[in-house]
Amino acid sequence: MRFSLLLPLFLLTIAVSGQGVTYHADVAPIIHENCTECHRAGEIGPMPFTTYEEVAAYGEFIEYVTSIGYMPPWTPDPDYQHFLGERSLSQEDVETLSAWVDAGKPEGNPAENPGLPVFPEGSQVGTPDLIIGMPEPYVHGGDNTEQYQVFVIPTDFEEDVAIRAVEVRTGNGAIAHHAILGIDISGTAQELDAASPGMGYESFGDFGFDAYENFFAGWAPGIEAVIHPEGLGRVIPAGSDLLLQMHYGPTGVEQSDQTELNLFFCDEEIEREVVTGIMGPWTLGEPFVIPPNQVKTFHGEYLIPTDLSLLNITPHSHLIGASWEVFATSPNGADTIPLISIPEWDFNWQGMFTFPTLTKVPAGYTMEAIASYDNTADNPFNPNDPPQTVYYGDLTGDEMFFVFFNFVPYQEGDENISMSSSTFSGITEDHAEEANFRLQPNPAGMRVQLLNDPALLGTLWSLSDPMGRVVDKGIFRSTSQFLDIESMSEGVYLFRCRAGIERLVIQH
Ligand code: HEC
Repeated sequence: MRFSLLLPLFLLTIAVSGQGVTYHADVAPIIHENCTECHRAGEIGPMPFTTYEEVAAYGEFIEYVTSIGYMPPWTPDPDYQHFLGERSLSQEDVETLSAWVDAGKPEGNPAENPGLPVFPEGSQVGTPDLIIGMPEPYVHGGDNTEQYQVFVIPTDFEEDVAIRAVEVRTGNGAIAHHAILGIDISGTAQELDAASPGMGYESFGDFGFDAYENFFAGWAPGIEAVIHPEGLGRVIPAGSDLLLQMHYGPTGVEQSDQTELNLFFCDEEIEREVVTGIMGPWTLGEPFVIPPNQVKTFHGEYLIPTDLSLLNITPHSHLIGASWEVFATSPNGADTIPLISIPEWDFNWQGMFTFPTLTKVPAGYTMEAIASYDNTADNPFNPNDPPQTVYYGDLTGDEMFFVFFNFVPYQEGDENISMSSSTFSGITEDHAEEANFRLQPNPAGMRVQLLNDPALLGTLWSLSDPMGRVVDKGIFRSTSQFLDIESMSEGVYLFRCRAGIERLVIQH
């Protein structure tokens, strides 16, 4: 309970009139849409939020963690750069939760509860071309410790294979905190596995050997698979092994997990191969050493050799990492492209962050990465007590400085290629057959009617703007409901739901 000292802060929150706010009518929709995905049986959230009793029991704590932005978890600063799958509550939602608690957590009328969303089982994106994974379940002991275990998954590919998407399907959501994926063609990972008892081998910060170009994807709860736009693909070389590093959270009882990877192959020959660029400690111009009792900041620089288009970005440090800011500057310093800012680094919520559209960084620009590390005794995550000199390395007490960025060579028009619309081109056809929906009228200016068949009731929908940002989302509550779009600016929006995706043109 690391927030208990801060609880008096409640008193500072401005009281909003709680008149008429009830659980079923006002609070349940917010909790169901933003929290229950993780806070339900079998998922990573430590307590379920599915009923009035469950939510009311944590009311004050929920008010607190939402008021400080700790939940729902999302570390990048949304005012700096947007990413797909961004999680945040609107100010209005935060105030509703607070007003409800202040009003004494009234339950209200159960008939007004929208019902729990239907959380889709199986693949979220379609029918995979290949499912591979851990050969047998891995047992994570009930001793309340974290575990970072690398599993080596042979592909047996006889030739290079271009993949459009990889989806991590964890076997046990209650312990699977995050995963990173890599490719190994050297056989080193297999040697490490053979030298370690049991399945896989332990490695805290990476795959346990010096080959950072191995990194290629990441996963965290609730983050959908990244699907490359048409013509782009990631090449997995013939004969390579996929490396899956699982971070298992602490548990008091023995749990087992058998995670699978769904691979989606590119249908046609790819035009551009997605590769990973890396800024590591060699870009710093000073040794990577963090003296004890200091907050130390490092500044890496990397000159961009040719025009490129970024797909996603992954800053990486360990436990005493405190913040990140990555941007690209033009040679004369007049132009700056903000890439990512993580004001409060949290090792538990690291991830690969995907830009809403391909993001161009021109040749001659310098990519700059500023990371700070809090090696004082005040940092509750400092693994050393008292603080020690920290060096580069992959053990728990070591630190790292890395920015991974997936990119392709730039092509005219890349700025308009949305990474979110690519999620649905061609891959969800089998879902589309399950249920029907229609937006009417389209184009529309004031409001849109969402018509759907009963199979969709209780499932989620979302509307993204032309930049790929989710501007509205909800749950299908009836076979016909209205969406107010009057205040949204004109443009082509994407409406997505389990049954597929539809372009909605907003014209006033
Ligand atoms: C992506 C998954 C995820 C989502 C979404 C999520 N949580 Fe959590 N939540 C967690 C995990 C994991 C923990 C335990 C680890 C931690 O505290 O960081 C947690 C912890 C909590 C705690 C206990 C905090 C503590 O330190 O003990 C509360 C209260 C909470 N969540 C409320 C919420 C609320 C309210 C929402 C929605 C507005 C929400 N969570 C959304 C995963 C999630």
